[in-house]
Amino acid sequence: MEFKTVKDSKITLSELMLPSHSNFSGKIHGGYILSLMDQIAFASASKYSGFYCVTASVDTVDFLNPIEIGELVTLKASVNYVGRSSMIVGIRVDSENIQTGKVKHCNSSYFTMVAKDNEGKTAAVPGLILSNYEEVRRFYNCIKHISLKKHKNHHEEIFDYKSEAALKALESYNIQLDIK
Ligand SMILES: CC(C)(COP(=O)(O)OP(=O)(O)OC[C@H]1O[C@@H](n2cnc3c(N)ncnc32)[C@H](O)[C@@H]1OP(=O)(O)O)[C@@H](O)C(=O)NCCC(=O)NCCS
Repeated sequence: MEFKTVKDSKITLSELMLPSHSNFSGKIHGGYILSLMDQIAFASASKYSGFYCVTASVDTVDFLNPIEIGELVTLKASVNYVGRSSMIVGIRVDSENIQTGKVKHCNSSYFTMVAKDNEGKTAAVPGLILSNYEEVRRFYNCIKHISLKKHKNHHEEIFDYKSEAALKALESYNIQLDIK
């Protein structure tokens, strides 16, 4: 079986933010940043695996700081975890004011990418060589995340949202039940 290092998956992408990327309040549109994140996740996973990949899921994306027109956005990506055909790519987005040199952390997220062969079938990816404790920490965080997601999905399947207790608990939220 083939093994590759995290370093083999590393990609950096920098782009100057143009007025055409902004929303009505003059900040850069979140959707544009998400599109750049998807591109770099695709590049990192495809470079690592040697197969073209598809996005299977995107972990929570919190926008920590707004990005202004004229700032230089840098995305860094690497594979943090591999399964058989799936890879979790960690992405960090920073934005730099090119006049002051001040750098802001704008978001971090995790994209699950799946390798596909030329017939469109999922393909086995190389095993991951963890070369330092930071890479071990990231791998473990992914294991924990996968396990929590399974637990959440199971809870959603068995949870009785129509029960009297579940409907009563909604009274503390900003809603009005109007079920006909
Ligand atoms: C993601 C996709 C390839 C999974 O296909 P599938 O037939 O369910 O394949 P499998 O059940 O064998 O899963 C393949 C791998 O994907 C992982 N996977 C599937 N769905 C997933 C999800 N929602 N989140 C995280 N991982 C997922 C599985 O855990 C498995 O990982 P492993 O091989 O490392 O163990 C398929 O659903 C797909 O092609 N989706 C559309 C992707 C796409 O077009 N993205 C762009 C959207 S515009």
